[in-house]
Amino acid sequence: MKIRENLFIDAVTDKILRIHSFDGEKSSFAVEKPIGTKARLREIPGVGGAVQALGTEYLSIYAAEDGTLKIYDKRQKLLCADYEGELEQECHALTEEEAEQMRQEGHNVRSGEEACRFQAAKKLFGDEVIYGLGDKTGFLNKKNYDYVMWNSDNPDPQVENPTFRAMYKSLPFFIVLREETVYGIFLDNTYQSYFDMGFGSSRYYSFGAVDGELDYYFIAGDTVAEIIEGYTSLTGRAPLPQMWTLGYHQSRWSYTSAEEVLAIAKNFRMYGIPCDAIHLDIDYMDHYKVFTKNDETFPDLEELSSDLSKMGIKLVTIIDPGTKAEEGYHMYDEGVQNGCFAKDSDGKIYHNAVWPGDSVFPDFTSEKVREWWGKQTELLTKQGIRGIWNDMNEPASFEGPLPNDIVFPGDGLPRLHKEVHNVYGHLMAKATYEGLKKYDGRRPFVITRACYSGSQKYSTVWTGDNQSLWAHLQMSIPQMLNLGLSGMPIVGADIGGFGSHTTPELLCRWIEAACFSPLFRNHSAKYTRRQEPWAFDKQTLDINRKYIQLRYKYLPYLYDLCYEETKTGLPILRPLVMHYQQDKNTWECNDEFMVGSCMLAAPVVQQGARERMVYLPEGIWIDYWTRERIMGGCYILKEAPLDVCPLYIKGGSILPAYGEMQSVEPENIKTLTLEYYPETLKKTAIFGRKPNAQEDSCYIHYQDNGVDFAYEDGEYNLYEFMFSEKRSNGLQVKMLHEGFLGKYEEITAVIC
Ligand code: GLC
Repeated sequence: MKIRENLFIDAVTDKILRIHSFDGEKSSFAVEKPIGTKARLREIPGVGGAVQALGTEYLSIYAAEDGTLKIYDKRQKLLCADYEGELEQECHALTEEEAEQMRQEGHNVRSGEEACRFQAAKKLFGDEVIYGLGDKTGFLNKKNYDYVMWNSDNPDPQVENPTFRAMYKSLPFFIVLREETVYGIFLDNTYQSYFDMGFGSSRYYSFGAVDGELDYYFIAGDTVAEIIEGYTSLTGRAPLPQMWTLGYHQSRWSYTSAEEVLAIAKNFRMYGIPCDAIHLDIDYMDHYKVFTKNDETFPDLEELSSDLSKMGIKLVTIIDPGTKAEEGYHMYDEGVQNGCFAKDSDGKIYHNAVWPGDSVFPDFTSEKVREWWGKQTELLTKQGIRGIWNDMNEPASFEGPLPNDIVFPGDGLPRLHKEVHNVYGHLMAKATYEGLKKYDGRRPFVITRACYSGSQKYSTVWTGDNQSLWAHLQMSIPQMLNLGLSGMPIVGADIGGFGSHTTPELLCRWIEAACFSPLFRNHSAKYTRRQEPWAFDKQTLDINRKYIQLRYKYLPYLYDLCYEETKTGLPILRPLVMHYQQDKNTWECNDEFMVGSCMLAAPVVQQGARERMVYLPEGIWIDYWTRERIMGGCYILKEAPLDVCPLYIKGGSILPAYGEMQSVEPENIKTLTLEYYPETLKKTAIFGRKPNAQEDSCYIHYQDNGVDFAYEDGEYNLYEFMFSEKRSNGLQVKMLHEGFLGKYEEITAVIC
């Protein structure tokens, strides 16, 4: 509906508005399915000053003469108001001269940024917190900082400072929470965009982009969870992963030969440490040429995959987009012949350098190129490779950044680099996902470093090149939580730290903190100290084994959370605020998180600490290690020797668990254990009647073959488990759906 020149509002649903500057339709890389306008906007009675008043069943929107908007919910509570004053000058802008002087002393300062083509500014009320924005550094709350969306490969240590306004990913979505109100905004614009969250002024926050159109979604709801559901209803949800991908992954840049890989695998088995995957970094290739292998160091990949698979271990290989410019190399020849590469403004193939030296860049905006790239995955899967790790797809380049005017020809719809940059990794992930799905047939396992909103449909992500620093272990928690709040559920940070040298203590605390990270991978850089679980002393080995085993024990819980995510978009790791929004103590809790709704983890992330303060929200919590029942709504001090990661289970929870295993083989899983954590351990309270007894505890469990897409044809089981504190009949099992033949042979219940 037209509000004024260059301002239109549509209602996607009663709670989701699309606010844009163009008339008609516009395609999107993130919102791929037609969204329609299910809810009708209708005229409503105006209020003072508003020239136009519109409403849905849930929202009222008042537009003033100058186009500024105010959005209220159905209780007439003001959710969001455009800032009406003059925008303030950026206080931190330097002249080029000042910047140069600072640079001479080694300061990393910026100057002369491209101006935004449009900017939207919203009033700050003062009491809000802001979440989301993907993998940005720092803390959960993004208010008072400013950020850039421009996918960037920057190997410096990542910390919350102006150098790191841009990171590898562009997820231009954020959530604003105030007392009694919450909403989200998704700016669907792939150009370089800016998010000043109250940095330039405490009166407003603003966002804008250097080009393209104003096109944002306003998502309302009652809870943070509902906002994420809304956002992922637009941009999509991560499909179910293969179950083994939730196991432990071991990586290093690089395991350089087949023998070395086999030796690593054997060590896992010798030390009795579960492991499902080993990753091959760039050195498995022939001169870093993608979709090739080094015939000397990896003479027979198929044999290697098969030897590993006997140990339950799968191979995952890295693939970069930068394609070596070398005649006689099939990727280069075919790509040149078929016009698959980006061109410079003169129409010649554009060259830059990446690992292979002189390189060219596939045009993933073209469906034809994506199909060609996707088909190459067959070269790997035929040799037994089970997953593809996409790296350097910002795209990274060693001879200066790709100029803005590089052309991606598309399929007759050419686009400039400045529009494509932030979706380059996204489209590469899409090509990889679709290739694996088509040519391998199993649920594709893709990891990507760069991405855009909507990439969750195609890929998992890791947070890129962190370092073995305690600050980076600390930061990995809010970083993963904000990725999850930004619709990206299957995330992980390199365990132990990638760059610089880890220590035994840091590795121990990291494996504890990462125990429930959806992507569970230890990875380290060349020239750094080795950090496989056995790299140090026996204590470090034992602690690694203990937490990797704990992870495998709760795989069915993690898998259930993945299933839940496909329905709701809710992440696996959640900030406490997602379940305890009314409790302000949770709003900025940076060093604790929930795993689903039943488990709370409060890892130790300080060197030398052997106890830590833990905040437990309302209700009864059960200390996982001691089984002590604790009344929440307070801070407690928990003793945490090096081998203890404080973990709490919410009273009344049911958790599914598997028995011990060395790797995930869904076909061999015949039994399931249900752990029931009643609020009190008094027998009478569990099996007898007690006044004000809680409702029955209930848990929905999902089971399928864990590998392919048969579940889409109904081949899955959905169980409802119930424990009653009121009646003395213990566990009840109800089948909500029965379509998978591998039903458990035995389900046992234990009271914890
Ligand atoms: C990049 C990746 C890192 C990888 C390295 C070599 O730095 O982020 O994970 O090991 O390249 O491929």
